[in-house]
Amino acid sequence: MSKILVNSNGPLHGEVSVSGAKNAVLPLLAATLLTEEQCIIESVPDLADVKVMKKMLANYGAKVDDSEEGIVKVTADTITTVEGNPELVQEMRASTVAMGPLLARCGHVVMPMPGGCTIGKRPIDLHLKGFKALGATVVESEDKVEITAGEGGLVGDVIYLDFPSVGATENILMAAVLAKGTTIIENAAKEPEIIDLANLLNKMGAKIKSAGTDMIRIEGVSRLSGAVHEVIPDRIEAGTFMLAAAITRGDLLVKNALPGHVRPIIAKLKECGVKVETVEEGIYVDARERELNATDIKTLPYPGFPTDIQSPFMAFLTTVNGKSTVRETVFENRFMHVVELNRMGADITTENREAIIPGGKKLRGAKVRATDLRAGAAMVLAGLVATGTTEVSEIYHIERGYENFVGKFKSIGADIMKVSED
Ligand code: EPZ
Repeated sequence: MSKILVNSNGPLHGEVSVSGAKNAVLPLLAATLLTEEQCIIESVPDLADVKVMKKMLANYGAKVDDSEEGIVKVTADTITTVEGNPELVQEMRASTVAMGPLLARCGHVVMPMPGGCTIGKRPIDLHLKGFKALGATVVESEDKVEITAGEGGLVGDVIYLDFPSVGATENILMAAVLAKGTTIIENAAKEPEIIDLANLLNKMGAKIKSAGTDMIRIEGVSRLSGAVHEVIPDRIEAGTFMLAAAITRGDLLVKNALPGHVRPIIAKLKECGVKVETVEEGIYVDARERELNATDIKTLPYPGFPTDIQSPFMAFLTTVNGKSTVRETVFENRFMHVVELNRMGADITTENREAIIPGGKKLRGAKVRATDLRAGAAMVLAGLVATGTTEVSEIYHIERGYENFVGKFKSIGADIMKVSED
């Protein structure tokens, strides 16, 4: 097992480019199962989760060509099985995003039940509610779920999501594109990754309207063709580097970031007194010699403040003047990083789903764990300003979702290295 060692090295400075979005590329790759023609996905980030997704596509019989860096060509001309591989699902719960495409393409799918994870139970009841609304039968057992379309295939209907679940919206979208008639998803997730998926599907011949709003309308078609599509930039990686500039009181150009996708992060950094400007190449963040103050954060589904930036932002708030609060409304257990930040002297307290961050702390280096993908990034951010060395273990979490994480931080002046645990 490897770990990351970080030492404070003063304000970060320079420029960093954001890679393709993890949470966009995974459903985009799953969507290639909907056609027997070749799909070409570009700007694919080199992530552990992408490697799992490619193995998953091959598991279903698709031909996957990733010989060119950043490009993945998928030809799912024959689907050899509709059974998900339990090890792959355990390795990455987002593998469940193959349910919709397989149900649409083959009328049948057997998916091992994904485990929960450190941030929550992560149920899939809303995904299954959507499939049932399209006429499928769902049989749940201890370790798997079997979904079978009706005699004549899936039939469009109106589906209300009790919560604007990203995964459920993606799965239902991909099931509905080949259903007979029209489907309407009400209270749909509005994340940019949903729009990116709808854009690919429409390039493939789907008829989807108003993705990105809370009501998505899909007119079923009989088949889909191949397409070429570039992944949108990763808004969470962008936010992470914006916070790296803020916490070290440095200045950074975050290139390839889309300001429209990170509005809550820009707003909250400005509230704290950080200078943030939208420029031609991306977003410029300047926190040099600025008195920074507390703010209050409440995570919400998009376009609200993103839950995935909650822990990195909390690390930053430990260093500003005054008391901040962070309320996590999306996941039921996403404060695991509080214990780790407190090992570094953050003195954070939590009550239910609210954390109180006293602020004004000079953190001290410590041995800490990455408790989830984003919390791992938060611990590295804290290590950038702590006195003494911070050792972050369980960094496989980080490598799931950040391309060239250590290399990018080194390029902007961080004193950081990856070492093997032993
Ligand atoms: C996606 O997860 C992202 N993952 C998560 O990013 C992100 O935090 C989350 O959306 C919210 O933005 C990918 O896109 C691969 P949800 P997803 O379904 O789809 C409840 C990261 O760090 N829920 O919107 O699983 C659920 O329990 C990861 O990159 C149900 O109750 O999120 C949670 O409390 C972490 N029933 C809430 O909805 C369901 O059927 C949000 O979940 C589905 C979800």
